Order: sequence, then structure tokens, then C-alpha cells
Amino acid sequence: MTEHFMPLDPQKIPRHVAIIMDGNGRWAQRRGLHRVRGHVAGAESVRVVTRLARKLGVSYLTLFAFSEENWQRPGMEIRVLMALLRRYLHRELSEMRDNRIALKAIGDLSQLPEAVQRDLEATIALTAEGARMDLTLALSYGGRSEIVQAVQSLAREVAAGLLAPEDIDAARFSRSLYTAGMPDPDLIIRTSGEYRLSNFLLWQSAYTELYVTETLWPDFREAELGKALETYQQRQRRFGLTQEQIEALEASNSRP
Ligand code: IPE
Ligand code: IPE
Ligand code: MG
Repeated sequence: MTEHFMPLDPQKIPRHVAIIMDGNGRWAQRRGLHRVRGHVAGAESVRVVTRLARKLGVSYLTLFAFSEENWQRPGMEIRVLMALLRRYLHRELSEMRDNRIALKAIGDLSQLPEAVQRDLEATIALTAEGARMDLTLALSYGGRSEIVQAVQSLAREVAAGLLAPEDIDAARFSRSLYTAGMPDPDLIIRTSGEYRLSNFLLWQSAYTELYVTETLWPDFREAELGKALETYQQRQRRFGLTQEQIEALEASNSRP
């Protein structure tokens, strides 16, 4: 463990960190390896980052593991990713239980192979109790589809006479998303230097701080997470207010 580099303020650890884990393919290709070797190496980053996030007191860690659009990749790569996911669930179960990490999943899970759905359900059930951190995997996830299914479910309630259109506000809408009950992400990290969201948490990221690093996901380990959190702690989140208003609020909050 190399943590000495991190002068992190324990009062300002983001409650919810979400990560777009990108660059596995490039990591492998740069080494003359097949893309799927990058996914194998990336799984190790998931272990390391989850462990440190939990230790630092992050309450929600959400990892973009497979997008709706990723179904268009070669069949072989998809099969390897699904096999790696199952292997990860089996290997990490005891560590998740020991560290009181609750596994969750968001996305159109019905699209996943049945064996993956079974393993996911089992792991979710076996880790549900007494959680210190929620680890949410976004699988077959797309932000636009998530919003569309929320609109459909609200429309069904309106059509059934259970809900008045004027009672639909942002809070009610949020409760119809896959992320119902979770706070919005404070920080979204994207690895491999791409400056885009790629359909990740579109609604939830309205006021999220964004951090992009050139580091490829398999190389994103403790030091990299530390750097991302350090950068986050130096940001001033304004939520549409002026800097002076924010400073006044901070002063009144820190008054004994
Ligand atoms: C991220 O790495 C993992 C998934 C999207 C499943 P990539 O496989 O996208 O890696 P690059 O972007 O091709 O390097
Ligand atoms: C985003 O990465 C999805 C995941 C990290 C699972 P992609 O590699 O699929 O995104 P694009 O295609 O570069 O936008
Ligand atoms: Mg990619």
C-alpha cells in the first residue's frame, strides 16, 4: 500500500464515486496482447480500487463495467467479459462479506446471460446485510434507456390513475431510475483520456465533478485513486451559486 502521498481531508471524501473504467483494450494492445488480456488486468484494478474506496469511507462506488452499446462488440470479447464477471463475483464474495460491501447492479439486467443473472442475484442477496459501502456494477447499462424506462413506468402510473402529471417532479423522477435511493455521484472518474460520458448516469451527473486521467484502467490503482480524490477536494462545487455565497455557506457550516 502506498498511501503516504495522499493528504486527503477525511471530512471531504466524496460520498458517491462513479468510474468509467476505460482503456483495457489499449492497455493490452500496447503490450502486443489480445484485448481481453486488458480486461483480465482491469479486474485487478476493480479489486484494488474497491478496497481503497471502502477504506477511505466512500459510501457508494459505482463502476461502469458494460454498456448497452458494448453488446455490439465481437461475440468472443463479450463472452470473455461475462466469464470474467462471474469469476469476479465468485472470487470476491468473501472479501465483500468480510468488509461489509453490498453488491448492487444497475442496467437492463434481463439482457445478461442467465448464468450471470443467477450469480449476480446470489451475490446481491448474500452481501445485502449491514453494508458500509454499496458497490454498484453498471451492466448492460445505458443512461438514455434508463430515462426512457423511468418515463414509461411513470406514464403507466398516470394512465392507471395512480399519479397526477403535476406530481412528477425531479425527486419523483429520480425514484423511477435504476439508481433509486442512491445519492447522485459527487465525482465521476474516466480513465484513458476520453472526455465523454458515453451514456453513463446522464440524469444523475447534472452537478457531478468530472475527472479524466490519461491512465488506462488496468494501470489505475491506489495512487491514481488518491490523485483523483485529491483533485476533487480542491474543487469548489457551486451548484449555480456565486463563489461568495458558497464561502458564506461553508463558514456557517463550520461554525461550532
Ligand atoms: C473498457 O475498456 C472496458 C469495457 C468497455 C468493457 P475498453 O475495452 O473500452 O478499452 P479500449 O477503450 O478499447 O482501450
Ligand atoms: C464506456 O467505455 C463503457 C464502459 C467503460 C463499460 P467505451 O469504451 O464503451 O466507450 P466509448 O465507445 O469509447 O465511448
Ligand atoms: Mg473503450
